[in-house]
Amino acid sequence: MKLLAFLMQTGGHIAGWRHSRAADNALCDADYFRALGRTAEKGLFDGVFLADYLGYHPVRGASVFAGLETPKLDPLVVLATIAAETRHLGLIGTASTTYNHPYDLARRFASLDHMSRGRAGWNIVTSTMENEAHNYGFDSHLAHGDRYARAEEFVAVARKLWDSWQEGAVVADKASGRYTDPSRISAVDHEGTNFRVAGPLTVPRPPQGHPVLVQAGASATGQRFAAATAEVIFTSHPTIETAKAFRSAMHAQLAGFGRTPDGLKIMPAVTPVIGRTLAEAEDLKHELDDLIPAEIAISKLEGLLGNIDLSQADPDGPLPPLPETALAGQNSTRDRVLELAEREGLPVRELARRVAAGRTGHTIVGTAEDVAGTLIEWEKQGAADGFVISAPFLPGGLEDFVDHVVPILQDRGHFRREYEGATLRENLGLTVPVNAFDLDPGLRSRPEIW
Ligand SMILES: Cc1cc2nc3c(=O)[nH]c(=O)nc-3n(C[C@H](O)[C@H](O)[C@H](O)COP(=O)(O)O)c2cc1C
Repeated sequence: MKLLAFLMQTGGHIAGWRHSRAADNALCDADYFRALGRTAEKGLFDGVFLADYLGYHPVRGASVFAGLETPKLDPLVVLATIAAETRHLGLIGTASTTYNHPYDLARRFASLDHMSRGRAGWNIVTSTMENEAHNYGFDSHLAHGDRYARAEEFVAVARKLWDSWQEGAVVADKASGRYTDPSRISAVDHEGTNFRVAGPLTVPRPPQGHPVLVQAGASATGQRFAAATAEVIFTSHPTIETAKAFRSAMHAQLAGFGRTPDGLKIMPAVTPVIGRTLAEAEDLKHELDDLIPAEIAISKLEGLLGNIDLSQADPDGPLPPLPETALAGQNSTRDRVLELAEREGLPVRELARRVAAGRTGHTIVGTAEDVAGTLIEWEKQGAADGFVISAPFLPGGLEDFVDHVVPILQDRGHFRREYEGATLRENLGLTVPVNAFDLDPGLRSRPEIW
């Protein structure tokens, strides 16, 4: 079983940060993230995972916020800090293909991979929020299909750039005065719809070849992109059935891209709420849910539904029909909320509490045995290759998992007792991608500029 620790700013439960075992105001504190890294490595996690957004969900108009605007430091800076504190732990950071340039991101992830000796991963997202568009000088977010078209080209350019230094490119020969072998470095000469990039990168090929490519979009287009590109899918499923269906659907799509299931790890997010007894775990869940202020839950729901206004809706009545603007464009998170409302006939207040409480798909409330048992069951039934553990509060919830759940997974033969390899790829069981320029020397262009 593969495990990633989701270091959601304030924990996997929206009010987790208010819990007595959550750190106080630590989101800009390097010691906090270093300690989380040490805990995850003590638990032999494959890696840590940092989400990221380039703005905030404004509530009912750009100037009103919900009081949920937690600090979000640049994930690569935080990961570099954790890298220095750990030796084996993978370091996966989210970065948007809509609001970055491929040269810049390729360089930053290659740098993190070098500095961590092969432990970097990139969670590729296309971004979801209007506010992110406004922060980058656009009136609105790109259309869904255009975002994914840009993402595809973005990743293709990044791959070429990582491959632009071939094996043996660095000679660092003091005697001859040559740092590089120019015949082993290539321009990339990319001319596409969205990007023109000459190359080469200013960073030698990363130790892992490419950082591990992670993806988290869930729409049909997102799934196609994942089938073509992703080595890890971070996904979110309310039930084992939906997770199984998703995993088989993804596996079925791989062949179309000449890929096989062993090159893709599908990892649903899970929030474990752990107690010494089931009753204690249930009490903890209630304690956490009681910490969610009602208006914050509703504003969260408003954001998830496409930034709509629910101020006139009866909190005890059903969800009113959504305005056209909220329904424009595809959005798998919104669709999932609507499905939940309909499936369980939830009134607005309860729907808000439910979606606000668990940011991730599946919450397991129980003892460490219950949590381990559920994870093993999901894995056995083919619903997952591993899990993104989104502890309800940090650091306490992650410590509980490492101290109590990991030993059970190990005793039952489902989790490592030591790291298998030195890189994130090795630990995840993923191969190093072949360098496209080695594969096809004809790709090597313009060597004369060297
Ligand atoms: C489990 C999960 C985690 C995600 N994490 C992020 C994130 O950290 N930052 C972000 O901008 N988008 C995040 N997304 C959004 C997606 O990456 C994607 O850009 C968005 O969902 C739109 O694509 P889709 O309609 O294919 O889902 C996440 C989506 C899922 C399902």
